[in-house]
Amino acid sequence: MRAVRAVALLAASLAVVACQSKKPEAEAPAKAAAVPAPASDRILVGHVGSMTGSEATFGQSTDNGIKLAIEQWNARGGVKGKPISLRTYDSQGKPEEAAVAATRLIVNDKVNLLLGEVASSRSLAMAPVADGNGTPMITPSSTNPRVTKDKDKVRPFVFRVCFIDPFQGTVMAKFARNDRKIDRVAILRDVGNDYSMGLADFFLAKFKELGGTIVDDQSYKAGDQDFKAQLTAIKNKDPQAVYVPGYYTDVALIARQARELGMKQPLLGGDGWDSSKLYEIGGKAIEGSFFSNHYSPDDPSPRIQEFVKAYKARYGGVPDGLAAQGYDAAMVGFDAMNRATDLSGTAIRDAIAATKDYPGVTGVITIDANHDAVKPAVVLEVKDGKSVFVTSVAP
Ligand code: PHE
Repeated sequence: MRAVRAVALLAASLAVVACQSKKPEAEAPAKAAAVPAPASDRILVGHVGSMTGSEATFGQSTDNGIKLAIEQWNARGGVKGKPISLRTYDSQGKPEEAAVAATRLIVNDKVNLLLGEVASSRSLAMAPVADGNGTPMITPSSTNPRVTKDKDKVRPFVFRVCFIDPFQGTVMAKFARNDRKIDRVAILRDVGNDYSMGLADFFLAKFKELGGTIVDDQSYKAGDQDFKAQLTAIKNKDPQAVYVPGYYTDVALIARQARELGMKQPLLGGDGWDSSKLYEIGGKAIEGSFFSNHYSPDDPSPRIQEFVKAYKARYGGVPDGLAAQGYDAAMVGFDAMNRATDLSGTAIRDAIAATKDYPGVTGVITIDANHDAVKPAVVLEVKDGKSVFVTSVAP
C-alpha cells in the first residue's frame, strides 16, 4: 500500500516536471526543455502540508489536488504564459515545522504563492510568516476564524477558500437539533488543537441556543491512545450523541473504544474526519455517525463530476474534500495571478482579494472582506465504509 502510494507520488511529481518542460515551441528553444526555466520565467508555488504523520492523508490529498490544478493550467500555457512549478515541504503535522517550511519557501525559494496548511493550528503558525514577508498565502481548508483574522485585524496576505467554523458548528448543531431531534449531546474535544477547541465552542453555543443540552464536555490530546476514562464519564451522562470535532486518527480510535464500552450513540463531527483512514481504522464502530464537510464526491453537479473523473484518471481513487479544496485553492491562486497587474506579492494579494464568483469544485468562491470564502457545507453519513451525502446547507 505504502509502496504503491510512493510510486504514485513520484509519478505525480514527475508529471508536474514534465508539464513544465512542455513549453510552447516558439517560446522555448530546444535546449530549454532539459533545464528548469530560470525563476523569472516560471511561477513557483510552495505547498506546506502534512505529508507524513497521523494526518498524512490531509497533506497528500491536498498535494494531489494542487498538482492536478497545475497540470491543467500548464496544459493551457501556464499563468501569464509562464509554466507553474511546485515545491512541497512536509510539516510533519507540527506547527513549528509548518512555520519553518513557510519561511524556507518564502525566503530561500522565493515562491510567488504559498498554499497550505490544512490544520488551523499549522496555518496559524504560517500566517505571520506570509504577512511579515508580503507573500500571499491561501489555506485550502483551515476553518478557524483566527487564521485570516488576528483579533479584529484582517491578516493582509492570508486567505482561505473554505467556510469558517462558526458556520460549520452551526450546521451540525442544526442538523442534530432540527433533523435528528436530539436534545442531549456530550462533547469530546482535542485541547491542543485550535480547530477542535473553536469548533466545539461554536457547536456548543448554537446547540444550546436551539434548546439543546450539553450534558458533558470532555477533552483529550491528539495522539492519546486511551479514551476510556472520558468515554465512561460521557456514557454515565447518557447523551443521545457525542460531538467529536477532532482529526480522523483520534476519532476512529474514540469510536472503537466507545463501542467497546457498549455505547451505541452516533458520533457527530466536522471536516477533520475526512479521510479514507477513518473508515479503515474505525471499521464498524464509525458506521452510522455523521460529519460536516466541504463537498461530496456523489454530488451530481457537472463541475464536481468532471473533477472526480479527472482526479480518478490521474490518481486512481475518489478525491476526498481535502483534494477538492487543494485543487480549488490552487485554481483561485492561479486565476488571481493571471489577472494580477504583475507578479509582485501585493498585486497577487489584491487579485486574490478581488476574487468574485469563481466556479470552484467545492462551490462558487467569492472572497469576502475577512479574506474568507462564503460557501455551503454538506452533512455526510458514514455508511458501508465510506461517506454518503445526507444534506447540503447554504451559508
Ligand atoms: N478544517 C480543519 C482545520 O481547520 C482541517 C480540515 C479540513 C481537515 C478539511 C479535514 C478536511 O483544522
